[in-house]
Amino acid sequence: MTAPIIRRLAELRGKHRDWTLAGESIGVVPTMGALHAGHLSLVEAAKEACDRVIVTIFVNPKQFNNPEDLANYPRTEHEDAVKLAPYGVDAIYVPDPDEIYPQGFATNVSVTGVSDQMEGACRPGHFDGVATVVAKLFLQTGAGKAFFGEKDYQQLLVVRRMARDLDIPIEVIGCPTVRETSGLAMSSRNLRLSEEGLEKASKLYPVLQRLSAELKAGAEFASLEPQAKAALLAAGFEEVEYLSLNCTENLSPRDRADGPARLFAAAWMEGIRLIDNVPVG
Ligand code: PAF
Repeated sequence: MTAPIIRRLAELRGKHRDWTLAGESIGVVPTMGALHAGHLSLVEAAKEACDRVIVTIFVNPKQFNNPEDLANYPRTEHEDAVKLAPYGVDAIYVPDPDEIYPQGFATNVSVTGVSDQMEGACRPGHFDGVATVVAKLFLQTGAGKAFFGEKDYQQLLVVRRMARDLDIPIEVIGCPTVRETSGLAMSSRNLRLSEEGLEKASKLYPVLQRLSAELKAGAEFASLEPQAKAALLAAGFEEVEYLSLNCTENLSPRDRADGPARLFAAAWMEGIRLIDNVPVG
């Protein structure tokens, strides 16, 4: 049976009240829909950790810096509800747009530091949009735990910082990236790639893994970066927007993996922007 779809905040609050009175814990999995196995792994983690699970689906216009990307973003509510049915989630919150951005909405949540580089630098305003909507979803759902994929690692750190700074009583839990058998990180954007594009895009992960192994062995990032970029272009990527080695905790750039570090990439395939990241060591 598909979970009830809730569109109004008052109804969601009613559920929250009943569950809280019954002493039940609540988890939330925020999404923009077009659900794939990566999202479903977050739902599984939430089901394991919480008595009640809310999945939110809201394509958030505020986080798209490119209007074409927003217009093309897949919207598959019915299919999403069907995919969620076997997991027994307790509510699918698909807020009417005015529940998130009421007339006259004038607040912006902006997280400095961890937002500044990579996705934040390439997509101006993106993380303000993410932090603003996620703050609202945390407050609206009243969940005690939230589940995010490590594929969007920078987003995970931004959201965690935001919740801490605003004293929102929620634990932000990062879950491992789920990959296709080809190694390609699952993403709603993969739906827009051709068969050939999917195959070429799957070269990103092995290039990152190889680079990660070389960094782990002590190599300097700057000496390896040109080769890795060339390998991606040779694999068929049209552009490598960034390839970056950063501290796992605060995302400051690093020259070598001489502390906890992650390797990040954004690259374009068939006009679609793909991102991925892997731990180093
Ligand atoms: O990762 C996403 O799908 C979105 O950025 C999120 C966290 C649901 C906020 O709109």
